Amino acid sequence: MPIRIAPSLMCADLLELARDIAELERAEVDMFHIDIMDGHFVPNLALSFELAAKIAACTRIPLDLRLMVDHPERFIDAVRRVGAASVSFHIESTTNPIRLARTLKDLSLQVGVALNPSTPAEALTYIAQEVDFVLLMTVEPGFAGQKFIPQVLGKVRAVRQMLDSFGPGKALQVDGNLSAEWASRCVAHGASILVAGTSSVFRDGVDLYTACRDFRARLSHADRGV
Ligand code: DX5
Repeated sequence: MPIRIAPSLMCADLLELARDIAELERAEVDMFHIDIMDGHFVPNLALSFELAAKIAACTRIPLDLRLMVDHPERFIDAVRRVGAASVSFHIESTTNPIRLARTLKDLSLQVGVALNPSTPAEALTYIAQEVDFVLLMTVEPGFAGQKFIPQVLGKVRAVRQMLDSFGPGKALQVDGNLSAEWASRCVAHGASILVAGTSSVFRDGVDLYTACRDFRARLSHADRGV
């Protein structure tokens, strides 16, 4: 499965967002990761559905919406209006995740379910077949610039094996402090989509184009399947 890079736009210079988007397009990133927060599921607020729709309208790069909200079923219409390619919600945030996954799939979106670091892989047992991808948080959700939680690596491998049992094609996304080193280790354990934040693409003193190229080059040495 190709390794895809998804810069997290909450880490971009929001006063120069159009410029940063153009630089990331030039670097040929694979998708833009858009964090939507509600101040409840996580104690923070990030980007809005309205801004996401404006971004979708001005770029050819597909958008990956990430819902860090309580009761995400409240936002189905807002998700539909964005024009994103994919959306993920947290399994800890809703009481009916299978119904929600099916409703979002009816919007012709790639649908993913996200797990907080302490949520076991077994939580996916009955929903993995309903989704196109799984997102494993490698930090507690809500803030950029945190430290990677190493014990999650074992869960990356377990979920990779679980997804492969349904046949090829289900992607495994990871998010949180993905430096080239941690990202390479996640790839080696089976990850295929890397949310890139302040420790990879949005690094102080490094322009976005160079940071993307450097990140992708360092990943290419990752030993897959160790
Ligand atoms: C945190 C967000 C991440 C964050 C990544 O909850 O979901 O996307 O922006 O930033 P770093 O790479 O700095 O952890």
